[in-house]
Amino acid sequence: MKLKFFLLGIVISLASVCKADGGLWIPSLIKRLKIEDMHKAGLKLSAEEIYSINQKSLKDAVMGISYGTNPASFSSTASFISETGLVITNHHCAISALHKLSTSEHNYLKNGFYAESMDKELYAKGLKLSRVIRIEDVTKKLSAGLTGLSERDSINRFNSRAKKIVDKEITGKNYYAKIRSYFGGAQYLMEVYEVYHDVRVVAAPPIELARFGGEEDNWQWPRHSADFAILRVYADKENKSIEHSKENSPYKPVNFLKVSKKGYKQADYAMILGFPGTTKQYVTSRAMKQVAEIKNHYSVMIRGAKLDVINKNRESNEDLWLKYADVMAKSSNVYLRDKAEKEAIERFNLVEAKAKQEKEYLIKLKSDKKLFAKYGNLIDSIANCVDQLDKLEKLNTFVMEAGISGAPITSFCGKFDMLNALARRKAKDKRVKYEQARLREEIRKFYDQYDINVEKQIVAALAELYDKNIDGKYYKSSIFNLVKEKADGDYNKFADYIFENSFFSDKWKLRKFVDEYTHDKISLLQNDPVFKLSISYYLINRDQIMRQRMKIRKKYGKFHKQYIHSLSELANGDLLASDANRSLRVSYGNILPLKTTNETYSYYTNLEELLVKHTKQPKLYSLPETFVKSIKEMSTKKRENTHICFISNVHTTGGNSGSAVLDSKGRLIGLNFDRASYGVISDYVYIPEAARQISVDVRYIKFILEDYLKADNLVKEIW
Ligand code: ARG
Ligand code: GLU
Repeated sequence: MKLKFFLLGIVISLASVCKADGGLWIPSLIKRLKIEDMHKAGLKLSAEEIYSINQKSLKDAVMGISYGTNPASFSSTASFISETGLVITNHHCAISALHKLSTSEHNYLKNGFYAESMDKELYAKGLKLSRVIRIEDVTKKLSAGLTGLSERDSINRFNSRAKKIVDKEITGKNYYAKIRSYFGGAQYLMEVYEVYHDVRVVAAPPIELARFGGEEDNWQWPRHSADFAILRVYADKENKSIEHSKENSPYKPVNFLKVSKKGYKQADYAMILGFPGTTKQYVTSRAMKQVAEIKNHYSVMIRGAKLDVINKNRESNEDLWLKYADVMAKSSNVYLRDKAEKEAIERFNLVEAKAKQEKEYLIKLKSDKKLFAKYGNLIDSIANCVDQLDKLEKLNTFVMEAGISGAPITSFCGKFDMLNALARRKAKDKRVKYEQARLREEIRKFYDQYDINVEKQIVAALAELYDKNIDGKYYKSSIFNLVKEKADGDYNKFADYIFENSFFSDKWKLRKFVDEYTHDKISLLQNDPVFKLSISYYLINRDQIMRQRMKIRKKYGKFHKQYIHSLSELANGDLLASDANRSLRVSYGNILPLKTTNETYSYYTNLEELLVKHTKQPKLYSLPETFVKSIKEMSTKKRENTHICFISNVHTTGGNSGSAVLDSKGRLIGLNFDRASYGVISDYVYIPEAARQISVDVRYIKFILEDYLKADNLVKEIW
C-alpha cells in the first residue's frame, strides 16, 4: 500500500486527469521498478535511454551545480544542450557567479549579458558542474559482517570501508565519488562523477526578466519569469575540464539534450532529471504537527518581522533597495515556502490524515505477530522523541532565525570571535596580523553592503521576539536586562543604547580597533554590547541546545529509520520512493492546470498577461524599457501565443531548480525553477492534484535570446 494514496483517499477526493504518484526515483532502478508506470504516463523512451552505463543516455546530459569545495554538495541542476559544451540552468542558480562578475560599469544582473564571441565568455570561478558516470549499490560492501560489533566499532569500520571504496574511484583530478544513504540507511548507493572546473557564462537576461515580479510572484502561479542562464564548459586537449585555462576549448559532452520546437499540450507527459535536495515523505503525524506548529510557525513569525523592517526601509530609500536585495530575497524565499507549508498542512488536514494512516498501519502490523513485536512501539517512540524535541526545536528556530542568521550584523560579529580564541592562546604577531587583514576585508565588505540603521532595527525587532517568546534566564544573555534597565522595556531604545555603546555602529571606529589590536585590548571586544548580544546567541546554541538536540534527534533518527523499514516490509514489494538526498533522481508526471479551492488556473502563461501585469503595476512588475517597447509592437494575438511558463504535477523540490523538463521523447521543453505555493507541501506529502512545479518554456528562452539579447549566433548553436 502506498503511503500517499492512502492519504489522498482520506483527505481529498478530486478526480485526477492523469494518475501520478509522485516520487523522486533512483535512475539506475527505474528499469526494474518504474518504467512500466512511466510508459503508462506517456513516456516513449526505454529505461536505457534514460539511464545506462553502457551507452549514452539522458543522465549524461545532466549535471549538479556546486559552489563550495565539495563537488557533490549540489545546490541545483544544469544540462548540456549542445555538442559544443553549452549548458542551460536557471538564472537564480547562476546568480552568485553573475553577481561576482558584475561591476558598477558592467552590471550583468541589471543589464543581462551576452558574449558575442567565445573569447568574451566569462569564467565563473568557483562554479563546478558534475555529471554522474555511474551509480553503484555499495550496501553489501559497506554493511557485511557488522552485526555483533559495538556501535562505535561498527561505525568506524563502516566509515573506513566507505573511504576506501570512494578513494578507489577517484582516478583523475576531475573525478569525484560520493556515497549517500537511502531509505533511512537501508541502502547505500555511490555516485561517481566527472567534475567540470572550467565553466563560463555565455548569456543571461536582465534580472527584471529573469525574476519578473520578484518576491511578489515567488512561489506563485501564474508566473511570467525568464529564469534561465546559459553557460559553457571548457576542457583541455584531452577533453578534460580539470582547471581553468585560456588554452581550453569548448568541451565535447558525451550527450546533450535536443531542444523541442513543438512545445506541449495539456496532459502531455513531462519528466525531470535533477538533483533534489531533501524531502521528508515519511514523517509521522506527530512530527508533521511539529513542522506546522513549531518550525514553520516560528520561522514565519521571525522572518516576517525581519522582512517588515527591510521592506519599510526599502520603500523610502532606493539605495537600500539594492543593498538589501539579496538578504531580502533569501529570507523571503524561505518565509513564503514555510508559510505555504503551514497553510497546506491545515488546508489538507495532514496531521489528522497521517494519524488515521498510522492507525491503519498499526492494525496491519497487529495482524502479523512477529512484525508487531518488532515495530509495534515505533509510532509511540517517535512521538515521545518529538515531544522532547518541541522545546529544543523552538529554541533552535529562535536562536538561528532571530539570532545567528537574523540580522546580518549578528553573523558579522561572529567573524570577530576568532580574535577571542587568538587572545586566549596568546597567538603570535604574525597570526594576529593575518587576522587583522582578514577582518579589515570583512569590514570593508560589510559596511559597503549593509546599512547600520536597518541593522539596528532588525536587531531590535528580533531581540524583542526572542525575549518575549523564550522564557527562562538560562536561554538568555544578561544583556537582555538592559531592556528594562536602560530602555524602559522599549526594544528600539534598547538597540539604540547598545549600538551607541558599540564600535560596531561605526565602520571607522571598528577599523581603528582592528588596526590597533593587541591582546591586552580583547576586553574591549568582549564588553562591546552588540558583540555580546550576537555572541550570546552562538553560545546559547553551543552550550544549551546543540548537543541536547543532537542527542534526541539521533534517537529519533533511529526510530524513524526503523519506521521506514517497517513501511517497506508492509508494502510487500510495492515500491516506496526514497526521500531526496541530493543524488540524481528522475520524476515524471503530466502537464496540467491547477485547481485550487477557489479557482482553476491554466497550465501555461503568456506574454500578453506579462504586459498586463506590467501595465497595471509598473514598479512591482518592472521591465527593461526596450523590452516593453518591442513587445508592445507585437499584435495581441502574437503575445497571447507566446507562452512563457507552464506547470505540471512532476514531483520536485529545492535543488531541482535549473533541471531540464523533458517531453515523452526526452526533448527539452522547459526549465524547472519553482513550485506553486498551493502544493508546496509535497516535500512531506505529495498530492497530485495540488503539487505543481513551474517551468519556463524553452520557446520563451529563445524569444528572449533573439529579441532582447540579439544572441543570434547562440540561437543557431542551440536550435
Ligand atoms: N522559489 C524558488 C526557489 O526556491 C526561487 C525562485 C527565484 N525567483 C524569485 N522570484 N525569488 O529557489
Ligand atoms: N527554486 C527552487 C530551487 O532553487 C525550486 C523550488 C522548489 O521546488 O523548492 O531549487
